[in-house]
Amino acid sequence: MVAPDLSVRIGRLQLAYPTLMGSGCYGSGEEYAPFADPAKIGGVVLKSVTRAPRLGNPVPRLVHTPAGLLNAIGLQNPGIEWYLRHDVAKFAGRPYRTIGSVAGFSVEDYAYVTERLAARDEIEAIELNISCPNVGHEGETFGCDPDLTSKVVSAARGATDKTLIVKLSPNVTDIASIALEAQAAGADALAVVNTVRGMAIDTNTWRPRLGNVTGGLSGPAIRPIALLAVYEVARAVTIPIVGQGGIETLSDALEFFLAGASAISIGTANFTDPRIPARIVDGLAAYLSARGLGSLRDIVGKANPG
Ligand SMILES: Cc1cc2nc3c(=O)[nH]c(=O)nc-3n(C[C@H](O)[C@H](O)[C@H](O)COP(=O)(O)O)c2cc1C
Repeated sequence: MVAPDLSVRIGRLQLAYPTLMGSGCYGSGEEYAPFADPAKIGGVVLKSVTRAPRLGNPVPRLVHTPAGLLNAIGLQNPGIEWYLRHDVAKFAGRPYRTIGSVAGFSVEDYAYVTERLAARDEIEAIELNISCPNVGHEGETFGCDPDLTSKVVSAARGATDKTLIVKLSPNVTDIASIALEAQAAGADALAVVNTVRGMAIDTNTWRPRLGNVTGGLSGPAIRPIALLAVYEVARAVTIPIVGQGGIETLSDALEFFLAGASAISIGTANFTDPRIPARIVDGLAAYLSARGLGSLRDIVGKANPG
């Protein structure tokens, strides 16, 4: 029997597998090569980069919670100039698609970094991180305001013809309205969702456990929140959705596809087991074959009457 078709097209970006590795959770890709077959993933979303270098937040930056991870890295990165000069060349010739991630603090920042990064052949698509909860409130402001979302996505759209994925925040009242603005402003796809704001307190010191006080929660704890966000966004937009938030197993992945995601992203799970993405891909093929289905597209949105 012919193997089911797991490929996905997102804008101009063709993925052999529907699995992206989440920004900030897969290094630059090469760190994982000894542990997981790089030819068995769809793509890697690189760590977000900003216009100026950033040292990131004070430590501690990570706190384990019963069903997830709180992080407040604070967009630590070397800034776009250094990144272009020293880092980007090594992304050439990877067996998966390489997606650059852009963060910023003004519309101009986003447009500038998008233009510079997308101009490089090694970078095949851009993800716009308008939803980072760990840099005061500025980073997330863009993804929490429909007007700012529209402005920043338009500016980035004007800066590149490459596939533009806009990453949305779950920390909003009406994610569908933000998604519609991003689509209208030219997004090719939406990443749904970034981390959920949270905190933890040390009961001995009476102090917050993160140096930044607040952080972003990821992992299984946020999966139902992320799934509902995908479900709601899928009812509102026509562009593809990259579902994410706590995906660890085939069953988790299936829920996101059935809710309306065309692809998924796996982040925190890679910290505990880098073989999870390949296991999900194998499981998807077996699941579709067992039901006589020829393509992943046959199940996308099937639990979503919208
Ligand atoms: C340690 C850590 C760092 C992250 N850094 C970024 C980042 O730089 N840019 C970004 O868009 N998302 C970042 N994220 C969010 C993830 O890409 C992902 O959207 C989120 O964690 C939800 O998926 P998950 O539960 O599978 O991890 C980070 C997440 C973690 C845990």
